[in-house]
Amino acid sequence: MTGEKFYVTTAIDYVNDLPHVGHAYEKIGADVLARYNRLMGNDTFFLIGNDEHSLNVERKAKELGMSPQQYTDGMTPKFLEIWKKLEISNNYFIRTSEQKHVKTVQEIFKRVYDKGDIYKGRYEGWYCRSCEAFLQEKDLVDGLCPNHQIEPEWIQEENYFFRLKNYSKPLSDYIDANPEFIEPQSRRNEIISLIGMGLEDISVSRSSVGWGIPVPFDNSQVVYVWIDALINYLSGVGYSDNSEQFKKYWPADVHIIGKDITRFHCVVWPALLMSAGIELPKTIWAHGWVNFGGKKLSKTHGRRVSIDEALEKYGSDALRYFLMREIPFDRDGDFTWEKFEERYNSDLANDLGNLLYRSLTMIEKYRDGRIPSPGKPQSKDNELQESLGKAMSSVGVSMSLMNFSQALSFIWEFIQRCNKYIEETAPWNLHKEEKKERLDTVLYNLSESLWFIAYCMIPPFMPHSARRILEQLGTEVDFDKISIKGIKDWGNLSPGTRIKKGEPLFPKIEK
Ligand code: MSP
Repeated sequence: MTGEKFYVTTAIDYVNDLPHVGHAYEKIGADVLARYNRLMGNDTFFLIGNDEHSLNVERKAKELGMSPQQYTDGMTPKFLEIWKKLEISNNYFIRTSEQKHVKTVQEIFKRVYDKGDIYKGRYEGWYCRSCEAFLQEKDLVDGLCPNHQIEPEWIQEENYFFRLKNYSKPLSDYIDANPEFIEPQSRRNEIISLIGMGLEDISVSRSSVGWGIPVPFDNSQVVYVWIDALINYLSGVGYSDNSEQFKKYWPADVHIIGKDITRFHCVVWPALLMSAGIELPKTIWAHGWVNFGGKKLSKTHGRRVSIDEALEKYGSDALRYFLMREIPFDRDGDFTWEKFEERYNSDLANDLGNLLYRSLTMIEKYRDGRIPSPGKPQSKDNELQESLGKAMSSVGVSMSLMNFSQALSFIWEFIQRCNKYIEETAPWNLHKEEKKERLDTVLYNLSESLWFIAYCMIPPFMPHSARRILEQLGTEVDFDKISIKGIKDWGNLSPGTRIKKGEPLFPKIEK
């Protein structure tokens, strides 16, 4: 591969419950980016995984009469099955109970300790077990954790502290000098003001927790679960078991995370890396929140949209499309079944599904199922090609800004342009009037446009539909290896190819 390297990660999920649509949104966004980079010819490594050492996991396992390891072993295949159904194309799935991760965490902890940045102290304060975070009195709302509306626990224990305070200045300087380090801007501003208010040293181990990674020089303590979890971005790409791979991909190009966990990623993580003498990731992108009917989605409060329900009803591509189109990646958005069905019927069934179905039906009916050879282009044909060129470059710009929703709207403008081309050229009249060469040209142009849609535009968002369209166009491609390197501006489909028209891609939902 000749392109650049690209390393993208997501947050690793807690395993005390199965993921909901909010978690899926993050994995799908990262998958879109990974697939897009592969399509552009970049050598891409995409990491996701599970965060297994949490207090919630320990408690849940106990409730079920299992060891935490047995419990997490049982959860892994369930997560993997969901991500497979959603066609998440990760190169590796890291589990924090894996040996290579344990080794990496202990190595980094020791390095930071040897540097003099870890010392023993006494912690006394609030702890929310759902955030797995220490809270200050001023963080609480009516005595409750503001994120989980549960009462935090009062903890008093001896543990190790990290000298975060010492990194206030290096962190602010770094953020100032690297505007793309924290995105979007709203999150960057939050972090700048947080650092401006003054950082305190943080506790990085626990003595009262059994399920975790032992501190390498003190077996009576385990590494605080957030420090453990952040280090997955190193261990998952080979820090301790594949140095060649690690050298090739590190630093990460993008860590994709939710807006609730920016403090850990944009303050603690870079400070820890600075202390360990490891290069910082290029960008931390904090996406917004998926709400359900205007309310916060939650694992515990019964407000969840089951991924399985969405998949069973409409399939993986429809869910991927809906989430990426409806909820821009830099802000919150709302999931409702009404909006989902509206977009499904208008964008998928009417616009894309019909374009394919009508075009292939005409090729079957008028040209015996073979893609004809185009004749001399007319102005409408040139306009169609121009709009393709414009759409392709606009999509490129939107993708570089992580504006997936806008990229899809440019793709859909082109799809609508193709449907308009059918109305303008009225192939049924050309057939009636026996304008053979003109009809050949129009049918070829429609096929080539569909080829571009399926090969260059929708694969990152809707891999299943892209494959099906390419199959129906009669092309044989190794879908996992497609790359836009070397394609022609126009004329990629060979005339004479036999199409394989299938069932409609997106059967309309009848109310
Ligand atoms: N385990 C930590 C992350 C450690 S990363 C080193 C964690 N886990 S989580 O399971 O609670 O969340 C995983 C990811 O899902 C986070 O990025 C979180 O922001 C995201 N989301 C959880 N609910 C969400 C929505 N309703 N909407 C969008 N993203 C959501 O935090």
